[in-house]
Amino acid sequence: MSSHHLLIRDMHRDDVPAVRRIESEAYEDAWPSRVFESELENAFAQYRVLAEHEERDPPGGPMSALARRIMPEPRDRILAFMGVWYMIDQLHLVTIAVDPREQGRGFGHALMLDCFALANAAELNEIVLEVRVSNERAQRLYDHFGFRRAGTLKDYYKDNHEDAYVMLSGPLNAPTATERLARLRAEHVERYGDAFEV
Ligand SMILES: CC(C)(COP(=O)(O)OP(=O)(O)OC[C@H]1O[C@@H](n2cnc3c(N)ncnc32)[C@H](O)[C@@H]1OP(=O)(O)O)[C@@H](O)C(=O)NCCC(=O)NCCS
Repeated sequence: MSSHHLLIRDMHRDDVPAVRRIESEAYEDAWPSRVFESELENAFAQYRVLAEHEERDPPGGPMSALARRIMPEPRDRILAFMGVWYMIDQLHLVTIAVDPREQGRGFGHALMLDCFALANAAELNEIVLEVRVSNERAQRLYDHFGFRRAGTLKDYYKDNHEDAYVMLSGPLNAPTATERLARLRAEHVERYGDAFEV
């Protein structure tokens, strides 16, 4: 017997091929896999995955010890990922993407909640990110979390010379920000139940 649940955890080297596949489908200008590999070694970066984890009941019976040895551990199915850089006084959200087949299921929201939890754990009081001016879907997600457009970086994306908006969360310890986050967390649990912890 086995059961599945969703979890958010740190990205491992083994996850890179699945992450790369999602990235190349979700983004037009995907990073080469060596970037992820070197990023996993970067002490100022943290990469997280949202995955479906299979829990199998341990085999029973007289052959159980042998079965445990030869049965491979089930692999997590990677559904989404994000990466952050720890700056002196800000958390920089550098990438976030959901498998295009899995979008609209709350995974983007779940990773954003995780991003705020990382900032809180590191006692960083602001999150900063850049987003293509044409990426309305991602901007809606960030607007939802209270981000404001702080400026525009001209010609930021080299593939099509597109501009980027710099978006800032504002102080995370402001009462409006903590109330918003508590509301979003509660809404997420209401919408998606306890399918995964956020
Ligand atoms: C942007 C992206 C990360 C969003 O991820 P997602 O998993 O599809 O997003 P969610 O399922 O969490 O949200 C989808 C919708 O449900 C709504 N929703 C989900 N959870 C919700 C909640 N708890 N409360 C209220 N609304 C919620 C959202 O408002 C959203 O609706 P909208 O898109 O019409 O605004 C995803 O589209 C993606 O990977 N895009 C390609 C890569 C990319 O552009 N990354 C950003 C680069 S800056």
